[in-house]
Amino acid sequence: MNIVLTGSLGNIGKPLAIELVQKGHSVTVISSKAEKQKDIEALGAKAAIGTMQDVDFLTKTFKGADIVYLMEAWEGIGSIFDKDVDFVAAFNKIGNNYKQAIAQSGVLQVVHLSSIGAHTNTGTGSLFVHHTVENILKELPENVSIKFMRPVGFFNNIFRYMQTIKTKGKIIQSYGGDKKEPWVSPLDIAAAITEEMENPFNGRSVRYVASDEVSPNEIAKIIGAAIGKPDLEWSVISDDETLQGMLSADVNEWIANGFVKMQAAQRDGSLYADYYMNKPTLGKVKLVDFAKEFAKIYNQSN
Ligand SMILES: NC(=O)c1ccc[n+]([C@@H]2O[C@H](COP(=O)([O-])OP(=O)(O)OC[C@H]3O[C@@H](n4cnc5c(N)ncnc54)[C@H](OP(=O)(O)O)[C@@H]3O)[C@@H](O)[C@H]2O)c1
Repeated sequence: MNIVLTGSLGNIGKPLAIELVQKGHSVTVISSKAEKQKDIEALGAKAAIGTMQDVDFLTKTFKGADIVYLMEAWEGIGSIFDKDVDFVAAFNKIGNNYKQAIAQSGVLQVVHLSSIGAHTNTGTGSLFVHHTVENILKELPENVSIKFMRPVGFFNNIFRYMQTIKTKGKIIQSYGGDKKEPWVSPLDIAAAITEEMENPFNGRSVRYVASDEVSPNEIAKIIGAAIGKPDLEWSVISDDETLQGMLSADVNEWIANGFVKMQAAQRDGSLYADYYMNKPTLGKVKLVDFAKEFAKIYNQSN
């Protein structure tokens, strides 16, 4: 099949491109940076250099594709430390660009990378932008089939805990405890997307993607063991302390508020309400596998 991927060689994009090329598909990877062309070609894919903000570029690139993978890249919108970035408007714009480019190019099969939390527009913090984009794409004519992939939190987010592990000897978040929650490896997301692409789907449907279910305290234990700190603790601070900490680090106000609200939804479980009603089979990569990768990078950094 002719497959076009947004998301460049990012967390999901790279393993996805590798897997699809290996399976014999003709793959085009979109990157916003010309210097990525050689890395994309080295994987056996074609490179299309342009941005998700450019509808004409997207339309031209999507033309002739049997299936297109759509994702919204936060880094392509702006820095979370820029107080002037309007992430809500930007997500709306990208959703509409994708809708227009899919309609104009005549593509009939779409896999959209959405997110946990996209089932609702309230109480999930910043994640409601994924709900918005899903709804924009649903406005496409009925003959465009769309698979909405809703991964849970990526293991990669655990890299963000590295700083306080190094400086304060613990993980510090505004939720914690022994209640298990789902986590996912981008490798399992790429595998799930490949599976969907190779089994043509009709209409509109949602697939949650998760790899493992572990509690905050189990994460501290597994990551702690991997880095030689078996007593590593996951400590909980208040929502307000988290918010003030982010604001004083100059994080964009909408991002900071959204983050605190998302963790509140993790704490009360509402973030996962729809996930547990549509629970997927867990993928292959487990937290213990990610912990080895974490330890390697932890040991290399100061
Ligand atoms: N982290 C989580 O826990 C989580 C959970 C659920 C859903 N999600 C969603 O997953 C998505 C992130 O996926 P990912 O981790 O695979 O992405 P990623 O690693 O952040 O990669 C996205 C790639 O997009 C490219 N890009 C940046 N700006 C662009 C632009 N203006 N136009 C076109 N391409 C651009 C960049 O590559 P180039 O530099 O080559 O352009 C970048 O490497 C987000 O939508 C996020 O909300 C994340």
